[in-house]
Amino acid sequence: MKRAIYPGSFDPITLGHEDLIKRAAATVDELIVAVLVNPAKNPLFSVDERVKMIKEVTGKIPNVRVESFDGLLADFARKENAQFIVRGLRMVTDFESEMQMAQTNHVLNENIDTIFFVTSLKYSYLSSTTVRETAAFGGDYSKFVSPEVYAWVERRMRDLKS
Ligand code: PNS
Repeated sequence: MKRAIYPGSFDPITLGHEDLIKRAAATVDELIVAVLVNPAKNPLFSVDERVKMIKEVTGKIPNVRVESFDGLLADFARKENAQFIVRGLRMVTDFESEMQMAQTNHVLNENIDTIFFVTSLKYSYLSSTTVRETAAFGGDYSKFVSPEVYAWVERRMRDLKS
């Protein structure tokens, strides 16, 4: 059983993330999308909201499971019996930190290998930060996220303004 973890903040999940999830799910038996519980960050959405949102947009992919984790990713991978971590590379600027993370995770858990997917060209500019900033300043971010996620972000922006 080939099991991979796709970890991230997903605040919120973008079309770039969704594209990677589809491609990664097609290469392994099970893909766990894992939302990091990171108390140091001040997120737009709670971890529970992000898990719910990801479940909404990945519900049709049978071999995708959505979880949250805290602590070390290497420990979560051990607990889940996963052999792979999946990450996307958008630009060359991602490379340095991703290499460091992959090597650290391999030292912390030698059963783990990181698989990199090159982000599809049409999403290579995209990040959750882009979505949050565009939405906060009233720009059109409908091309950045799926309709379900768009509704979540619209609601949150309305709540923040009221
Ligand atoms: O979407 P992000 O914010 O780029 O994801 C970063 C993430 C969640 C993959 C990374 O911060 C992580 O794995 N954190 C867990 C803590 C950990 O395992 N650190 C050691 C490896 S660098």
